[in-house]
Amino acid sequence: MQDSSSNSSQTSTVVITGASSGIGLGLARAYLDRGFNVVANARTDERLAAAAKELGNPARFLGVAGDIGQRATAATLIERAVARFGQVDVLVNNAGIFNAKPFVEYTEEELDQLVATNLKGFVYASQAAAKHMVARRRGHIVNITASIALQPNQQVPAVLPVLIKGGINAATRALALELAPHNVKVNAVAPGIVDTPLYTPEMHGFLNGLAPAGRIARVQEIADAVLYLTGADFTTGVVLPVDGGMSTGKW
Ligand SMILES: NC(=O)c1ccc[n+]([C@@H]2O[C@H](COP(=O)([O-])OP(=O)(O)OC[C@H]3O[C@@H](n4cnc5c(N)ncnc54)[C@H](OP(=O)(O)O)[C@@H]3O)[C@@H](O)[C@H]2O)c1
Repeated sequence: MQDSSSNSSQTSTVVITGASSGIGLGLARAYLDRGFNVVANARTDERLAAAAKELGNPARFLGVAGDIGQRATAATLIERAVARFGQVDVLVNNAGIFNAKPFVEYTEEELDQLVATNLKGFVYASQAAAKHMVARRRGHIVNITASIALQPNQQVPAVLPVLIKGGINAATRALALELAPHNVKVNAVAPGIVDTPLYTPEMHGFLNGLAPAGRIARVQEIADAVLYLTGADFTTGVVLPVDGGMSTGKW
């Protein structure tokens, strides 16, 4: 569903959650480069304004601030996308937090935060988008999960993020089945470790050693996989690792 291959004469529109930094910001840039309209969500207007300035394409960019863990944010996101650009062709569920620590040390607050952002965010945004896409009989939902949910790593204890990302990997396939008769695709990209502001340069040496490829991913490499799936019209229910081999086996 690249813009150039769309049957519609309208420019295609992607909604990206968590698009003020890291992978989400890179996705916004990649979709703008492909000619899409981009509707970007993050929690604050300030961070979205900074992203808008960096991307420099105000005619095809709309920022919609709000906590994606709140149901109302998802409804507003889709409503405002439709009001500004006419339709939503793609939703990328990217907003997420990742905190690695021993299982017994997770606090109740951390659990609540993970459930709100990573799980409820996925559910609410996907529900709002799916209703719109089913009515149009066209659309694509892409979930950004994590390769560590496919193959946990003893050096990176992260049971709670893995619990939710692994659940979304399973839900990707189940929702793909449910929505296939409506011409709506559902796929996931499962990154390994990606060069984002989450990691300081001092951490890169350790992180590079976690992948058989011997390095972490560039944000563009995650965006390439999302764009590939967006353009692959007969591909649904796939969880695509982009992890330099991390989830392939033990090395
Ligand atoms: N980086 C990696 O190595 C890696 C590996 C595997 C998977 N992933 C996944 O990739 C996704 C993006 O990660 P990233 O590394 O790019 O993270 P990041 O740089 O921390 O970006 C996270 C984005 O989500 C937004 N966000 C956080 N909580 C939100 C909420 N409640 N409502 C709306 N927006 C919210 C943040 O915006 P504001 O702070 O401005 O609200 C920010 O734009 C996540 O789902 C993550 O689990 C990342």
